[in-house]
Amino acid sequence: MAALINDTFLRALRREPVPYTPVWIMRQAGRYLPEYNATRKRAGSFLGLAKNPDYATEVTLQPLARFPLDAAILFSDILTVPDAMGLGLYFAEGEGPKFERPLRDEAAIRSLRVPEPRESLAYVLDAVKQIRGALAGKVPLIGFSGSPYTLACYMVEGGGSDDFRQIKTLLYSRPELLHHLLDINAQAVTAYLNAQIEAGAQAVMIFDTWGGSLPDAAYREFSLAYMQRVVAGLHARWQGEAVPSIVFTKGGGLWLEAIAAIGSTAVGLDWTVDIGEARSRIGERVALQGNLDPMVLFSPPPAIAGQVARVLDAYGHGSGHVFNLGHGVSQFTPPEHVAALVEAVHSLSRRHH
Ligand code: CP3
Repeated sequence: MAALINDTFLRALRREPVPYTPVWIMRQAGRYLPEYNATRKRAGSFLGLAKNPDYATEVTLQPLARFPLDAAILFSDILTVPDAMGLGLYFAEGEGPKFERPLRDEAAIRSLRVPEPRESLAYVLDAVKQIRGALAGKVPLIGFSGSPYTLACYMVEGGGSDDFRQIKTLLYSRPELLHHLLDINAQAVTAYLNAQIEAGAQAVMIFDTWGGSLPDAAYREFSLAYMQRVVAGLHARWQGEAVPSIVFTKGGGLWLEAIAAIGSTAVGLDWTVDIGEARSRIGERVALQGNLDPMVLFSPPPAIAGQVARVLDAYGHGSGHVFNLGHGVSQFTPPEHVAALVEAVHSLSRRHH
């Protein structure tokens, strides 16, 4: 494979010197880009895009053609794993993801099997290979998965949820059954991420979108412990290169020390945390990724630059920071404001290095 032309992202994750702070954006390929919507129309649906490696490659590259981002992220979804387990993922128009066969009883949970990624998720691995080839070393490619607990939320609720009533009922009334489900999910996520690494992903990120909805003790027992198992099972190196991992618990600010102790290279921060405070708490052990409020992107470019400067100044001098939003970019974001964000990070961060 060609050597990387821009390895700023990987260097920042290793906390090695960089000339500027690298930046990428969660959900950088998505509906705020008109070219994404055009490709999605041709593909017929979101799943039509995600399950076709040619389309997945095309949309992965779209934000990179517009903005000088420092990393690409595989275009896919966290819910491909439960889909491969047979739950039947679909998207009802305007309603978000749903499963045809959610886990509604003990028999459904007991009959779950760990999918072989080379079989039921081959389309994702093909996309990784194709994207890596198309990038030709321009920037590194990030692979990703949902966390075992976040996947379990969707599998048990059958889709998104406001109150997590069903998964929490399982957690409090049948904890051993939820542990069984999380054990299967942890094995599935580990195998899936390792298969992405083998296919060409140069870093991996675990999205724990819903761990932050749990009480302290339950977070540690049902979410963090399983992410620790996943991280421990990941290829630390592949083809002579270290493979960094990023763990992101939305709402995880209370648990930074605990998250930093599970063995990942970096910790993702949502926008509620002061990144300078996070650095003083865990910056000796891990790199930090984040954490601009995605809603800042609805203000005019000078205000965006001001908020970018606040995050950069809060982190302070030196490497170990990958700039990102604190959660995914909104579909209503003006693309020119994303351009302003990337430009502000690149220009304003130079004085910190
Ligand atoms: O970051 C990227 O550019 C990579 C692509 C990516 C998508 N989903 C594409 C997508 C990634 C990393 C995800 C992760 C994901 N998916 C998460 C974890 C991150 C987070 O946001 O907390 C979650 C919880 C999901 C589940 C999911 N997929 C939801 C809730 C939705 C509906 C969102 C909505 O706003 O309607 C999806 C669909 C989805 N995944 C879209 C995209 C671009 C929009 C689908 C469309 O085009 O209609």
